[in-house]
Amino acid sequence: MATITLAFTGASGMPYGLRLLECLIAARCEIYLLYSSAAQVVAKQECALTLPTQPREAERIFTARYGASPGQIRAFAKEDWNAPVASGSNPADAMAICPCSMGTVGAIANGLADNLIERAADVMLKERRPLVVVPRETPLSLIHLENLTRLARAGAVILPPSPGFYTHPASVDDIVDFVVARVLDQLHVPHSLVPRWGETGDDTRSERA
Ligand SMILES: Cc1cc2nc3c(=O)[nH]c(=O)nc-3n(C[C@H](O)[C@H](O)[C@H](O)COP(=O)(O)O)c2cc1C
Repeated sequence: MATITLAFTGASGMPYGLRLLECLIAARCEIYLLYSSAAQVVAKQECALTLPTQPREAERIFTARYGASPGQIRAFAKEDWNAPVASGSNPADAMAICPCSMGTVGAIANGLADNLIERAADVMLKERRPLVVVPRETPLSLIHLENLTRLARAGAVILPPSPGFYTHPASVDDIVDFVVARVLDQLHVPHSLVPRWGETGDDTRSERA
């Protein structure tokens, strides 16, 4: 069972993060869940979802919402330095920050490690483990571009939520799945969210819960 650290930060795009969480649960991954204060605001604004301040409450809510196994989701507070992800001695197999704010991009690019999300990402880079960053802002300033370049140079995968339209998405859910599929690929988590180019298999989009 793969262990994945999933972080939500305060950029627009919370539907991507929630769908990613759902797919990781369905793929039987063990998940370390982190989210920032700003992510709580964005989740409320975009998805009418209250991300609880108490990690145990978040575990309970998401376990019920997505039918996770007991213990499959472990949530941690932003300054819980005792969390496994805080140390290079116990990193997850991979980490995704989805969505990722420009503030968090800048903090990681400059090694701040001032909260558990930044520290967990810092650990992934130093341990040479996969770190997938799904940044969201438009347009991008030179500061954003330089910080993203710095992260890419350090080994992160920069995966902008830029959906393709060659699959003829019929709904917002299809567009979300296009992006989440690319993130899952980078995390090496199997899925069948959207047909792959050049394959003639059934369209699995309608199979979503
Ligand atoms: C509804 C909403 C949408 C936002 N969208 C973005 C965004 O797309 N990109 C971004 O970089 N910041 C966005 N912000 C601002 C960040 O939340 C803010 O810079 C915050 O300090 C980021 O903190 P964090 O990185 O710890 O989550 C948004 C804020 C709100 C409330």
